[in-house]
Amino acid sequence: MEKRSSPKIYFAPLQESTDHIYRSAHARFFGGIDKYFAPYIVRQNEGIVKNSHLRDIKPENNHQNPVIPQILARNSGDIIFLAKLLQENGYDEINWNLGCPYPMVTNKGLGAGLLPYPEKIRSILEESLPNIQCKVSVKMRMGLESADEIFQVVDVLNAFPLSELILHPRIARQLYKGVPDEAIFTEVQKRAKHPLVYNGDIDTPETFNRLNELFNETGTWMIGRGILKNPFLPILIKTGSIPEKKEAAERMRNFHDEILLGHSKVLNGNSHLLMKMEKFWSFFCFAFPDPHKTFKRIKKAANITKYDLAVIENFHYLRDQIS
Ligand SMILES: Cc1cc2nc3c(=O)[nH]c(=O)nc-3n(C[C@H](O)[C@H](O)[C@H](O)COP(=O)(O)O)c2cc1C
Repeated sequence: MEKRSSPKIYFAPLQESTDHIYRSAHARFFGGIDKYFAPYIVRQNEGIVKNSHLRDIKPENNHQNPVIPQILARNSGDIIFLAKLLQENGYDEINWNLGCPYPMVTNKGLGAGLLPYPEKIRSILEESLPNIQCKVSVKMRMGLESADEIFQVVDVLNAFPLSELILHPRIARQLYKGVPDEAIFTEVQKRAKHPLVYNGDIDTPETFNRLNELFNETGTWMIGRGILKNPFLPILIKTGSIPEKKEAAERMRNFHDEILLGHSKVLNGNSHLLMKMEKFWSFFCFAFPDPHKTFKRIKKAANITKYDLAVIENFHYLRDQIS
């Protein structure tokens, strides 16, 4: 049998979690990622982009990793505007979000809200692509209300020079409930003319290996929550091993400390910092012996001193388990 080449792994964009501070720290302490997708930026009603979104894609905050910025847009004017802004910041590839499932977004015809309207997608691409110089990829769900929507969308996308398609095979109405629809992904694989990337619920090497057998044409995978829960997952999938336990614990501690320091420099006040770190630990706790207790210690910490003690305790239990 022909030997398959090493899989490519993309880090999924997760609003509020995979900001530039997180992405840089992940690249430094764990690696194994071929492209980091930044959470979407969007043009506000007044035509401008929020400062926090701009900060996240600025080249000086992203120099050490391959980063693909993502845009949320419902018309060609906004796509052209955002593509130009990103090109001016040094990017030569952008990703268009056709997957965001939240009603606040889809009700405005953004994200997965565009999936029931393939002709609209066609006219947006017809008007925008000739006016932008960078490569464009698309990240999408199967549909807003029904999985069938994806087929017409893919037929439209096939007519355009896109760099790749990323499919998370759930419909928007499911949010994250149920399981990804593997049969639909296989159907889309047959129909799509562009390289197709699989995304959804990969959280262990075993899941990855099963899907790798199932979708044997797919060499590229996007993973989000699985990496937030186990930052070693990409190198575990690629190499089959992780550093020895003491070294692994040290990297996790340094990773945490870098993220804490990064946010402490930009956030206003300790309560914001504690909220940010609580969100971080809601995933990171799964890399610890008792995730529930690990997270509870963080949640209970009412100030930074108590937070620091909770972190010490969490890592103490991690090392205890290791030694
Ligand atoms: C909290 C949260 C925020 C997300 N933000 C984005 C986003 O900004 N852009 C996007 O395309 N997808 C976003 N997603 C979807 C993820 O990129 C990914 O498609 C989804 O989590 C499924 O992959 P996973 O099972 O590997 O996590 C978000 C998901 C979550 C849970």
